Amino acid sequence: MLEKIKNILSQANEELEKVSDLAGLDNIRVSYLGKKGHLTLILRTLGSLSPEERPVVGDSINKAKAELEEKISLKKETLEKTTSKSSTKLLDLTLPGRTPFKGAYHPITQILNEICDIFTSLGFTVSQGPEIELDFYNFEALNIPAEHPARDMQDTFYVSDNVVLRTHTSPIQIRTMQKRKPPLKIIAPGKVYRCDSDITHTPMFHQIEGLHVDKDLSFSHLKGLLIQFLQKFFSADTKVRFRPSFFPFTEPSAEVDIGCMMCGGSGCRVCKGTGWIEVLGAGMVHPQVFRNVGYDPAEFTGYAFGLGIERFTMLRYGINDIRLYYENDIRFLEQFK
Ligand code: DAH
Repeated sequence: MLEKIKNILSQANEELEKVSDLAGLDNIRVSYLGKKGHLTLILRTLGSLSPEERPVVGDSINKAKAELEEKISLKKETLEKTTSKSSTKLLDLTLPGRTPFKGAYHPITQILNEICDIFTSLGFTVSQGPEIELDFYNFEALNIPAEHPARDMQDTFYVSDNVVLRTHTSPIQIRTMQKRKPPLKIIAPGKVYRCDSDITHTPMFHQIEGLHVDKDLSFSHLKGLLIQFLQKFFSADTKVRFRPSFFPFTEPSAEVDIGCMMCGGSGCRVCKGTGWIEVLGAGMVHPQVFRNVGYDPAEFTGYAFGLGIERFTMLRYGINDIRLYYENDIRFLEQFK
């Protein structure tokens, strides 16, 4: 009997030597120490032994069990260590990493920020106003009375009789002047809405408004500022020209053109053969606008300007269809990282 126990133990040791994973180790444990394991079964035969043999064999089985349990648990520890080691071996640190996906600002936001940066570097601060606007701010206070033909310049989305989606950022001029005393020097970026949609128009687009009010400001200040801005944004040799125009809230009013950067002024599809591209509306603040906000036009003068971000972005990147901005096609957007 004692011989048998010794054999079982040495067989178990042999198997323990060879086993290389935790599942195999558990099989060994079950086959020796489990309910029907070799050592357990022998223990059950104790009853058939003589009273003298019983304690000797019983003692030897218990010792064998204890020894085996000890060895199994030691083996378990080493296996646990080596298997976690071998799984780190699978981690090949020399493999090139996965490129993390990088987001980016929308091209419109990029250009908007860039334009704001230029003006803030010139002493302007940023103002904001609501996109759902009262008729008073969008039209009336800007010297565009009801039934005035100038209302036809913009196709307005009406929310109700006297509430509109703002058609331009100019109402922010009025809101800012109502709140603050001159002098003031602000730009106001934001979304504007017009009922219009084709390759150069979307129902929502972005503008930046500028307003500078102080004593003794003249048209030459406006000219100097806009030339400086346009040459900073496009390039130092950009040609700029001012054409007389009409806006109800400025007098005199001008539209500002830059020399076409696509053809260098010789005439192409982009500038429709003229060599010039219109980029801005501007003018000296109309005295009636000052009166509407309680400023004295005899004491203060000012200039204002407005520009479309979509247009500036199209010119910067040579984009020929405004609708591309708002289709959210990742292949388009990815090019502006
Ligand atoms: N609000 C005008 C528009 O949306 C743009 C504009 C023109 C703004 C002249 C101005 C300005 O401030 O002085 O077409």
